[in-house]
This record gives sequence, structure tokens and C-alpha cells, in this order.
Amino acid sequence: MITIIDKKRNKKELTYEEMKYAIMGYVNGEIPDYQMSAFLMAICINGLSSKETFDLTDIMLNSGDRIDLSDINGTKIDKHSTGGVGDKTTLILAPIVASLGIKVPKMSGRGLGHTGGTIDKLESIPGFKVNLTLEEFKKELKEVGAVITGQTANLVPADKKIYALRDVTGTVSSIPLIASSIMSKKLASGADKIIIDLKVGNGALVKTLDEAKKLANLMVRIGKKYNHETICILTNMNEPLGNNIGNALEVKESIELLKGNVKNDLYELVIYIASYMVSLGKKIEFEAAKKEVIETIENGNAYKKFLEMVSSQGGCLEEMQVAPKVFSIKSIKSGYINAINTEKLGMIVKEIGGGRETKDDKIDYGVGIVLSKKLGDHVEKDEEILKIYLNQKDMEIRKILSCFVIEDEKKKYQPLIYEVIM
Ligand code: URA
Repeated sequence: MITIIDKKRNKKELTYEEMKYAIMGYVNGEIPDYQMSAFLMAICINGLSSKETFDLTDIMLNSGDRIDLSDINGTKIDKHSTGGVGDKTTLILAPIVASLGIKVPKMSGRGLGHTGGTIDKLESIPGFKVNLTLEEFKKELKEVGAVITGQTANLVPADKKIYALRDVTGTVSSIPLIASSIMSKKLASGADKIIIDLKVGNGALVKTLDEAKKLANLMVRIGKKYNHETICILTNMNEPLGNNIGNALEVKESIELLKGNVKNDLYELVIYIASYMVSLGKKIEFEAAKKEVIETIENGNAYKKFLEMVSSQGGCLEEMQVAPKVFSIKSIKSGYINAINTEKLGMIVKEIGGGRETKDDKIDYGVGIVLSKKLGDHVEKDEEILKIYLNQKDMEIRKILSCFVIEDEKKKYQPLIYEVIM
């Protein structure tokens, strides 16, 4: 292992066997955390060649089970987000796309750092089962068409172990490590086609468009190598997506959108990604797919599919609760909201109980924030910027207000969708 670390430190290319020795040795407990940490840091600093990244993906992909969904009819499309604040798109996209006859098998994760996780959001619905067995997962997919569950224990165990180590060793932000981590999981979970919502901005893992393009190109190439069409949509995460942040509050916003009552940036993004999924699944033009997507929301079919998915996985929406203490936070000056520190807002929701500080913490599902103003909006002095929903913990108003940059002149608006790479 020392020779392998030395080689990477000296910017030499590793062979498949050397990479496998390091990764599988770590998975099997033969290589200690400190050697793996040094190896990961060498990768972070010196990078990996394309060949090394493909090899790493292949080794991780084959470190555990690969799900075979070929006995289920129809095209299966997976959608993945690289993570952001207020990102509840999976909860909305799965029923929309399934209501149009396309299967959506979705294995999701929990919150990480300042970003929320789909599994935590779904757990805010009392009774919702997120630990399906493989048999249950397939049954839901066959019968309902949309299923969202946590990753099964033996799906890419190498990523599980390495990801946890990266999280605490400052080695998350590496393009080849992110690409192989995401793509090994997507390829192992059995869908035919993969759509990745690659978030870029101050609330995302990837902060610049340049980095995002590199990551997208790499993931698309990995997908091609395995014959899994992969589309990366680069989207703006310089403000929370939609208005609600926090688990139960995000489920509520998703429901309102599915009922046709929300028409914000979240709606725009959902329509865009769903249209890509439907056009891939049905092999039709994007515009034709978009028409079907809008229609399935307006005629109530998407919402019906959501209710079917929730009740089939044991959830009881009537019992879902938001926190009882609601405070209106008002602006101390007037002007345009020109910037939002999205990561800090995400951290605030985590601190009031909406996320975990340590991996064993219990989440307070009902807490969160509802934005009354978004980027580019004008706000008057003493006008409400947001509402905060609290349960047990308090939060300093000054800290919340410091997340917003309010200026006299309105700054140029950045697009919600930057680019599609396929
Ligand atoms: N999401 C993942 O699954 N892996 C990463 O490395 C980063 C984001």
C-alpha cells in the first residue's frame, strides 16, 4: 500500500491491479483508515487519469451486488442529484414520470453536510418504509412504477466505506472521486438510463461551472462505457430550490406542486428534468414529452401516483407534522436580494434539528425554513423574508439575516439551467 500511495503522490498512473489492491484491501479491513486517507488525499491533490477513474468505478461497481431489473418490463430511468438545499425534486419527479408509464427505481441517500437527503424527507411521513428488501423494491417497481428506498446493504460497499472516510478527511471535493462514487452506485442499481442533476453554486458540492463541466463529461463517458445512456443537467444552486427547506416542509411543497399549486423555480426544474426522463423513456421529442408532463400534473394523475407510492410504502400523510413554533423574520433594510448564502441556510436548518450533527443523531422532521423572498426579489424594510419553524432549539435572527445580501441595485439574474451534457 505504501508503494501505491508513493506512486500516486509522485503523479504516476496506477494499474488496475494496484487500484484494486488498495480499494478491496480497504473494504476487507486489511488496509487501515490512515493509509486509505493518505491515498485519497494524494488523489485529491494529483487527480486520476481517465483510465484510472474508469478502473476505480469498475472496482467499486463490482465490490458488491448489482441489481438486475431486466425481468421488469419497460425502460427504467434513474435520476440522481449531486445534492443541494431544498432539493426535493426526486419526490416529485418519481410520481410524475411513473404516472406516464415509465418505471422509476430510485435508491436515495440521507442528508450529508449542509445538503438534505431524500430518505430523510420521506421519513418525515410517519410509517413510510425506506428500507425495502430487493424483492420489495422490485414489487413496488412492478406494481406502482415508482419506488424510492435507501441503498441496500451490499450495493457498492466500497463507496459506503470510502465515502464515510472522505466526509471526515477533507477528500470529498475531487472530480474523479465524485464521478466514480456516483456512477458506480447508479450502474449497480439496475436502471437502463441515468439522468444526473448536477448542482453548481454556493449551496452545492461543485462550486464552479468549469468543475461541473469536467465532472459531467467524465460521468457521461463512464455511462457510455457501460452502455447506460447518461445525461447531466447542470443547474443553479446559488439559492435554495423552491421555497421550503426542512424535511416535512419539503414534502408539503412537493405535494402542493403535484396538485398544481406551485409555479416557482422548483416547478421549472421539475418540468425540465421530467421532460428529459419522459423523452428518453418513450423515445419522443423533448417538447412532446413536456406537454405530457404538464398535462399529468394538471389532470391530477401525478398527484394520484404520489399518493399511491406513499400508501404502498406504508406512509400516512395525515400524520405528518411541521414544528409548532413559527416566527416571521423581517428584513432590516430595503433593496434587492442579490445573493443568498445557501450553504449557511442549509447549515441553519441542520442546527435547528433538521439534519444530523453526528451520524447517530435523531432528526426533528418538522423544523425548517419557508422563504417568502428569493434571489432578485425586492424586499421592503420590515417586510418578511422568511418564516422559521422551530421545535426545541432556537436560532439567532442575526445569523439568519446574514445569509442574505440586500443591495439597492438589482444584480444580473443567473439562469436556473446552465447546460445539458450528454
Ligand atoms: N454524491 C455521491 O454519491 N458521491 C460523491 O462523491 C459526491 C456526491
